[in-house]
Amino acid sequence: MKVLVIGGGGREDAIVWALGRSPQVSEIVCAPGNGGIAQRARCVAVDQSSLKDLLRVVLAEQPELTIVGPELPLSLGIVDELQQRGLRVFGPTTAAAMLETSKAFAKDFMQRHGIPTARYAVCRSLDDVKRELQKFPQAVVVKADGLAAGKGVVMCASHDEAMHAARAIFSGELLGTAGVQLVLEEWMVGPEISFFALCDGVSAIPLACAQDHKRIGEGDTGPNTGGMGAYSTDELMDAATRTWVMEHVALPVVRGMRAEGNPFAGVLFIGLMMTPDGPRVLEFNTRFGDPETQTLMMRLESDVVDLFSAAIDGRVSELKLQWKRGAAACVVAASGGYPGKFTNGFVVRGLDAVRNGVEVFHAGTALKDGAIVTAGGRVLGLTAADVDLKGALKKIYAALQHIEFEGMVYRRDIGHRAL
Ligand code: AMP
Ligand code: GLY
Repeated sequence: MKVLVIGGGGREDAIVWALGRSPQVSEIVCAPGNGGIAQRARCVAVDQSSLKDLLRVVLAEQPELTIVGPELPLSLGIVDELQQRGLRVFGPTTAAAMLETSKAFAKDFMQRHGIPTARYAVCRSLDDVKRELQKFPQAVVVKADGLAAGKGVVMCASHDEAMHAARAIFSGELLGTAGVQLVLEEWMVGPEISFFALCDGVSAIPLACAQDHKRIGEGDTGPNTGGMGAYSTDELMDAATRTWVMEHVALPVVRGMRAEGNPFAGVLFIGLMMTPDGPRVLEFNTRFGDPETQTLMMRLESDVVDLFSAAIDGRVSELKLQWKRGAAACVVAASGGYPGKFTNGFVVRGLDAVRNGVEVFHAGTALKDGAIVTAGGRVLGLTAADVDLKGALKKIYAALQHIEFEGMVYRRDIGHRAL
């Protein structure tokens, strides 16, 4: 079958790589893809922020299956458009994607359905914020409502800081566009886990769990990034906790969305904080995580097409997925300066020297005059699996010794919490 993947980051490269191993797949197209994906699939240009352009590409290519990677095309409604035309597409509709695109919607939804999460208030003005803050301790989290590419959450040590953050959100200073509403939230503590559930509108099954490293600096210091590395192990979450999360979060989400007339199909990415009072939902994403997906694809032994098809055809409860036991990890090599300003166009060297079961997933690269050059903040994600995390990391860090580009930075402590 011909498959089209929408997106052009490390997550999409990992999905394309997994599709390439499926006997059901005869042709892979990726829009827009990147320099590395171009070596595994045919890449076609697309403006991911334009629904019209996305639709143009899908209708021109006529794939038998379309997989939407990032949140932006989901929020624009590409899934709705393709479903209306009877095309097979993996991902949620715009209405179902609101679990990610509106924090206020997600919080109200969780409250309606008794899903464990931090106490919160939705505010539409500074007066609201001032009043509602009185109900919270000094340390509080302020969240802009819409898609914010990781920049919409402000951790505040005091109510003064919270007022400052609220002003920045309502004025547009924080995100460039003025926010209409924001969410105040209780500040929780504990380790974070990314829990992935495959949903078909009616039911859900767990995929493997992963842990992301969001900060740029070693020891979890410095500003937030899209994710500087991730790992997935059997030990990350025990079977009893997985069952608890399915019963208290994933299944209530699927039942609740269906009851409200917006069935959720696709991947539900549940950002959990493991607090002393039990797991609590930090946020939902309605897509695969990046770079968590790189580790999940590395561990998945089953045909990835079966996973996508089950979600589209309402058969996830019949699906039996096989995962490699042990661990997988992904270490991101980023451009110097990221997540702030950085320069593109540096030649990436040493890619051919990477072997030993290490896969180099490309995130921000382009092909220029036959060479791979940097073209983004996160450039590569070196990924490997092994019997344990230590083994996987050892292979990855050895492979990184071969890779070179000007200004390259990576964290040397990925997986440190688990080791
Ligand atoms: P989010 O986009 O909602 O996942 O927030 C980004 C990051 O902010 C999370 O991964 C957490 O590290 C942190 N965060 C968000 N909400 C809270 C909260 N209520 N308490 C503590 N940390 C939070
Ligand atoms: N790694 C976090 C995300 O994909 O949002």
